[in-house]
Amino acid sequence: MKASLMKAVVFHAIGDIRVEDVPEPAVEDQKDAIVRLTASAICGTDLHFVRGTFSGMKKGQILGHEGVGVVESVGSEVRHLKVGQRVIIPSTVGCGTCQFCTKGYFAQCDNANPMGKLAGTAFFGGPEAAGGLKGLQAEKARVPWADVNLVPIPDAITDDLAILMSDILPTGWFGADMAEIEKDDHVLVFGCGPVGQMAIASAILMGGRVIAVDRLPDRLAMAERQGAQVINMDEVDVLETVLKLTDGDGARRVIDAVGVDAQHAQHGHDEPSLLGKAKDKVEQYLIEPAARKFGSHFVAGDNPSQVLDWAVECVAKAGTISIIGVYPPTDRVFPIGKAMNKNVTMRMGNANHRRYYDVLIDHVTSGRLDPQKILTETEPMTGAIEAYKAFDERQPGWMKVELEPSA
Ligand SMILES: NC(=O)c1ccc[n+]([C@@H]2O[C@H](COP(=O)([O-])OP(=O)(O)OC[C@H]3O[C@@H](n4cnc5c(N)ncnc54)[C@H](O)[C@@H]3O)[C@@H](O)[C@H]2O)c1
Ligand SMILES: [Zn+2]
Ligand SMILES: [Zn+2]
Repeated sequence: MKASLMKAVVFHAIGDIRVEDVPEPAVEDQKDAIVRLTASAICGTDLHFVRGTFSGMKKGQILGHEGVGVVESVGSEVRHLKVGQRVIIPSTVGCGTCQFCTKGYFAQCDNANPMGKLAGTAFFGGPEAAGGLKGLQAEKARVPWADVNLVPIPDAITDDLAILMSDILPTGWFGADMAEIEKDDHVLVFGCGPVGQMAIASAILMGGRVIAVDRLPDRLAMAERQGAQVINMDEVDVLETVLKLTDGDGARRVIDAVGVDAQHAQHGHDEPSLLGKAKDKVEQYLIEPAARKFGSHFVAGDNPSQVLDWAVECVAKAGTISIIGVYPPTDRVFPIGKAMNKNVTMRMGNANHRRYYDVLIDHVTSGRLDPQKILTETEPMTGAIEAYKAFDERQPGWMKVELEPSA
């Protein structure tokens, strides 16, 4: 029998993605479920793949790792889910029973990545090395170990709320959790994109005093509305300003919510010199020669280690740096000398989404966290490519983009 077709966002090459008809997924293992997606979303991580700064995407891969939907069918070994149940699909996949999953390190599962237990985090819509699981910017998806990797949600959590809990809220929370925040700590958050905004909200709830850095006025304004002090990296010297705001100490906790597509400051002592620009180009080339350097869309950030440099400069002595911005395995640049000599604690990684749902569902239903305030756009799947371009360009107001899979 011929498989039915569905719409999905498909990766063709760096800078080339398309909405196409592809075969619908089917149960392959008896622990699988098939989910009909009712909401999907575009993430900064997708941009790294389309810009080419995180390589290894195969032509034909369906993009996307954020999804909410309804269970459509289940394999015979799925115990806790019912057809028709509404669920969040956490971005990273775990088996639930290995030595890492049982300790809460779902992103380091021994079994979820078909490339082997040393292959790294398995997640939807990523490169082959991440397991090659088909993505969630589609009408339907196959979810392995469905009892573990689908989170049933109460009706009170609408799709518009739930889609922000598939990746960015757990990731922001994970970033703040790793930062070891104590009451009244200065928490410096780099990046005010969707992930940065969720890290800011989480850090404030944990008692931190947040200072947020970006260059985009609309994103800085949203950070300010959340209660952060803000620094526009193109208008003032970042290190100088952080020192001013922290009595000369630096921030005890720093969160990198930018990653490999970081951009150079255009002001102060970090303004790029000719030599600096050359260094950035070499660094970019060593990380990923194929990444897009020119053009109007999907162009790589021009200084991959800018945030890492600032994080180490701006962190207080004996402070903590938490990295949730994504860097590809090919990236080897980090200011280790300065960090070592400040007795810095470093924590980082792909979020262990599954670990945080009990606490996050409680915070969201009680209103202590309101991720929905950063959802600015809802677009039909048929308009996904234009939506990708607007999000990539960071058009004013385009903060978080939800996709409607069946529209
Ligand atoms: N660790 C995880 O599990 C995980 C999960 C989801 C997303 N992420 C990563 O989080 C990062 C952010 O995601 P997003 O969706 O918010 O992306 P985004 O691209 O929308 O946001 C990035 C923001 O960083 C800002 N920026 C660029 N250079 C900067 C600099 N030098 N200093 C300060 N800000 C700078 C940009 O202006 C932008 O607002 C990405 O790297 C993404 O891959 C990680
Ligand atoms: Zn994401
Ligand atoms: Zn596991």
